[in-house]
Amino acid sequence: MTIITEFFSKQHRECDAILEQMEQALNAEDWTTGAEKFAKMKQDIIDHLANEEEILFPMFQEKTGMQGGPVMVMLGEHVEIKSLIERIDNAITVQDTDEALDTTETLFMFLQQHNVKEEQMLYPMTDEALRDYLPELKAKITGFE
Ligand SMILES: [Fe+2]
Ligand SMILES: [Fe+2]
Repeated sequence: MTIITEFFSKQHRECDAILEQMEQALNAEDWTTGAEKFAKMKQDIIDHLANEEEILFPMFQEKTGMQGGPVMVMLGEHVEIKSLIERIDNAITVQDTDEALDTTETLFMFLQQHNVKEEQMLYPMTDEALRDYLPELKAKITGFE
């Protein structure tokens, strides 16, 4: 069973796609579209991180008794992701194209490295540990069916 890995990985791809659309708009200095795409990207990423921080990871920790390790590393990286999103927000507010694009690139690279660790290591561990708790997980996570 890889249902958790599939669902959460799909959210990664969706966030990547909107981030790319945002980058295109910023490249064209289309601030209206850029700000729209930014708002959607931010909401999608924040929702995804919240699904992990508030639901998936705590349930995994509770069922396995594993408190440190990969989850702690991922949570630390979430702090960095949120801070990069704030930097992009500020750059868009003052219409600083270079800062917005540079930070978007940094966020994109950071997310790729973060996501690959989750997809190849942590999510498969959660699929293994939570296979008997899927109904509980599905009840708590929007769109997870
Ligand atoms: Fe994450
Ligand atoms: Fe993730």
